[in-house]
Amino acid sequence: MDKVRWGIIAPGRIADTFAKALCNSEGSTLYAVASRDIRKAEEFAKKYSAQKFYGDYDSLFKDGGVDIVYIASTTAQHYSQAKSALMNGKNVLCEKTVTLNSAQFTELMNLAREKNLFFMEAMWMKFLPAFRKAKDWINEGRIGAVRMIKADFTNLCPFDENDRLYRNDLGGGCILDLGVYPLTFACDILGYRPFRVESAAYIGKTNVDYDASFILYYPGAFARCDCGFDCENENAAFIVGSKGRIRFERWFFCTDTALLYDENGTLVEKYHPPHDVNGYEYEIYEVEKCLKQGKKESEINPMIHTLSVLQIMDNARQDWGLRFEGE
Ligand SMILES: NC(=O)c1ccc[n+]([C@@H]2O[C@H](COP(=O)([O-])OP(=O)(O)OC[C@H]3O[C@@H](n4cnc5c(N)ncnc54)[C@H](OP(=O)(O)O)[C@@H]3O)[C@@H](O)[C@H]2O)c1
Repeated sequence: MDKVRWGIIAPGRIADTFAKALCNSEGSTLYAVASRDIRKAEEFAKKYSAQKFYGDYDSLFKDGGVDIVYIASTTAQHYSQAKSALMNGKNVLCEKTVTLNSAQFTELMNLAREKNLFFMEAMWMKFLPAFRKAKDWINEGRIGAVRMIKADFTNLCPFDENDRLYRNDLGGGCILDLGVYPLTFACDILGYRPFRVESAAYIGKTNVDYDASFILYYPGAFARCDCGFDCENENAAFIVGSKGRIRFERWFFCTDTALLYDENGTLVEKYHPPHDVNGYEYEIYEVEKCLKQGKKESEINPMIHTLSVLQIMDNARQDWGLRFEGE
């Protein structure tokens, strides 16, 4: 494989950001794009110099020139689209949250394995150099034993009952849109199997979760994760250990900066390389590496991690009595 040839489906807001990073990566090329609206596909193809554009997704799935499909649609669509892509023999990178629930994801995971295809949730945070550096600091014992994690993702989103965020039928709600980041952050450091999870949510008038809080319990440690889109906090994250702490400043999940403090609160190291493009390039580099090496899963973001976070979210929604349309 020379360059990885990508096909993007559902070219909306995130697809645009992703395409900027993709077009800057030497190991990839944007080959095709598909939208339900062919004019939109054509415009996107022109903007990013894609060779082909389609007015339906199926034609892209059947295009023999596509090595991997990037799914950038709204969450409720991911399951059926990822299934079609895999059934057509395509590798898949799917936006977060990858599916509405763990049952849907399990089916896709099994399908990808059966067909020997690459499949990954686009949890770009895990590939960011600042996040990788923090993990190195922890593994090197720089903060001692991790005792406590605090991570929030809140975003003041104006109420609009037609916006996917507020719509139950599109898989809206704050845990699938925002909470997946702090939960993944905590799990990637303390483990994907907390022995107990407590949660609370405010379910708003459009029957999705507008605000939610989680406490994840581990032997000798716990994590607090908040998310919500009718209020906005600083959205920093802290990893607090017995000998120091690590801080990520505002918008922790996309930051290029990690700060290391000793037990006296003195800053001892600041890791701050600017992103090559906009931060999405690091997950793209990982996909390129996996495909070139014939790997079907990323070691940094294997499917079992994604499944565990989905199970935490499923259990929380069950406690709150919240189901999505069609579930
Ligand atoms: N990684 C990140 O940082 C990040 C950031 C934001 C969002 N996301 C994730 O990316 C996904 C898309 O988010 P977005 O904000 O980019 O969404 P968006 O712009 O609202 O929509 C993306 C695309 O989804 C399709 N779509 C929209 N409404 C639909 C509907 N009612 N029924 C069927 N398809 C519909 C459209 O595709 P067509 O062009 O084909 O019509 C649209 O272009 C979500 O899963 C979200 O969680 C990730």
